[in-house]
Amino acid sequence: MWQGAWYHAPCFLFEGRVAVAFDRSIKIAPSILSADFANFGQEIRAIEAQGADWVHVDVMDGHFVPNITFGPPAVKAFRPHVSTVMDVHLMIAPVDPYIDAFAEAGSDIITAHLEAGPHIHRTLQAIRAAGCKAGLSLNPGTGLEDVAYLLDLVDMVLVMTVNPGFGGQKFIASQVDKVRRLRQMIGDRPIHIQVDGGITPETAPLVAKAGADVLVAGSAVFKGGSVENPAPYGENIRAIRDAAQSGLQSA
Ligand code: DX5
Ligand code: ZN
Repeated sequence: MWQGAWYHAPCFLFEGRVAVAFDRSIKIAPSILSADFANFGQEIRAIEAQGADWVHVDVMDGHFVPNITFGPPAVKAFRPHVSTVMDVHLMIAPVDPYIDAFAEAGSDIITAHLEAGPHIHRTLQAIRAAGCKAGLSLNPGTGLEDVAYLLDLVDMVLVMTVNPGFGGQKFIASQVDKVRRLRQMIGDRPIHIQVDGGITPETAPLVAKAGADVLVAGSAVFKGGSVENPAPYGENIRAIRDAAQSGLQSA
């Protein structure tokens, strides 16, 4: 059911796109960067069956970041397997020429990096014009100053808690303070705060307490499991969620 300000956005132009209602409850978004690359459809269905709230898709171009992953045809192939929210994180530069292709591939949320080009304002406008929710991502070295004039254009801000490019890296603790300050800047606006990189049951309470509500986790979700044995995915998701909730209770 639709609620809140997101309902007014010109969304869901494409068949198969799901409604994304706004709330600040903790959401776990497994990154399929840590999935079995020969088995994406089954992996996506397995993490959703095991409790994933969103499915996080990391798009890398070997230029903005030193790794290469998926293009629009791959994202389009994932779409029918996603019944929650397909959250597409673009680590590519330039980004503007590819927005329509990723929207047409069925993305619900498209996140672009502030550092990916000189016209992030235009980029965010283009994402919404393509019918998607707009996310703005900040590298660990990027401050919050440039976010102030973009808040009316975003549905989510992604605070990278590692330098983008690879899964399995160590959480950068200085980003917790960035999340806290961003949460204050956002106030009552219906804007999610997402964190991505090094999220585990140990780090989840820190970011949740600081104000993050969407926690991306790759290696910490997929470790120990497989499509033949998906129960560990569920245990890992629950462990991260429970730890985040306990961080909220101590806030
Ligand atoms: C990093 C990606 C992340 C990554 C997270 O550039 O944006 O989504 O997959 O992986 P973990 O959770 O293993 O740090
Ligand atoms: Zn990501």
